[in-house]
Amino acid sequence: MDKNVAVQIIKLKKEKNAIILAHNYQRPEVQDVADITGDSLELSRKAAETDAEVIVFCGVHFMAETAGILSPEKTVLLPDPEAGCPMANMITAEQLKSEKAKYPGVQVVCYVNSTAAVKAESDICCTSANAVQVVRSIAPDLPILFIPDQYLGHYVMRQTGRELNLWPGYCPTHMKITPKDIAEKRKQYPEAKVLVHPECRPDVIDAADEALSTGGIIRYARSYEGKILIVGTETGIIHRLIKENPKIEYVPVNEKAICPNMKRINLEKVLLSLKNLEPRIEIPENTRRPALAAVENMLAL
Ligand code: 13P
Ligand code: SF4
Repeated sequence: MDKNVAVQIIKLKKEKNAIILAHNYQRPEVQDVADITGDSLELSRKAAETDAEVIVFCGVHFMAETAGILSPEKTVLLPDPEAGCPMANMITAEQLKSEKAKYPGVQVVCYVNSTAAVKAESDICCTSANAVQVVRSIAPDLPILFIPDQYLGHYVMRQTGRELNLWPGYCPTHMKITPKDIAEKRKQYPEAKVLVHPECRPDVIDAADEALSTGGIIRYARSYEGKILIVGTETGIIHRLIKENPKIEYVPVNEKAICPNMKRINLEKVLLSLKNLEPRIEIPENTRRPALAAVENMLAL
C-alpha cells in the first residue's frame, strides 16, 4: 500500500514541478520520498534556492512558513495544517512588542521555531545550527533578547559568554530527555558517545558529550569511529542515521522523545496535498516582508 502511494507521489511530483522537503524527524516513509531531508537551516536554504513551482513541506508549520516567507511566488504546502510546534506558540507578536519595550536598543534574536508575525518583530533569526554564530555577529554593546527557547538561549549564552535576556519557551518533546536517562544509557554502553540537541535542558547538555543540531548529529556520525552512538533528540532522526551510516548502532537516550506534530504527516496526506495543491501556507505581505528581513539577515551570515 505504502509503496503504491510512494510511486504515485513521485509521479505527481514530476507532473506538478514540485519538490518535497522533509525534516530529519519525519516518519521513515516520508523521509524516503523526499528530495531533501535536513535540519531547519538546510531546509530553509533549499527552499530559498529551488526553482520548483511547488514546495511540499513535510515538517511543522513554522518550517513551511519560513519557506513561504522566502518564496512568495511558490505554492508552499503543509500536508497537515495542524502540524504545529508548541514552542512556536509560546510567544505572540504582542508579547514580543511589550518585552522589547523593556530593553532600549535591544536586538531580537528569534529562533526559527516561531510564527511569521513574531519573526516580523525580530531583527535576526537563527536555528540551532547557527545560533552561536548569529549571537556573535551582534555588536557587543547591544542588549539581546533571545526568543522563544530559553534552553537554546541558555546554551548560546554559555558558548558565547554573553548575557542574553531569555523568553521562557521550551520544547515539550526535548523536556522528556533527562540526565538520569543519559546515566542509564552510559552504564549500558560505556564506550559510546552521547549527542543531544541544544533544545535539551542545561543539566542534560552537561551530561552529554556534544550538543548539536539535527544536521550536526548527522555530520558527527559520518566521521564517528566508535560502534555505538547514544542520541538525545526526537527519535525520527535515527532512520536517517541508519540509512547513511548503517555500521553504527544508534541508541535513543529516551525512546519516548517523539514529537507528535512531526508525526502528523504521512504518505497519504502528502499525496492528497500534491493532488489538491492544498493546504497552502498564506502569509500577509505586511507580515512577510519584515519577517523576510529577519530570515535573510540570518542566511546572509
Ligand atoms: P533542527 O534545526 O536541529 O533540525 O531542529 C528543529 C527542531 O524543531 C528541533 O526540535
Ligand atoms: Fe517543536 Fe519540539 Fe517538535 Fe521541534 S521537536 S517541532 S521544537 S515540539
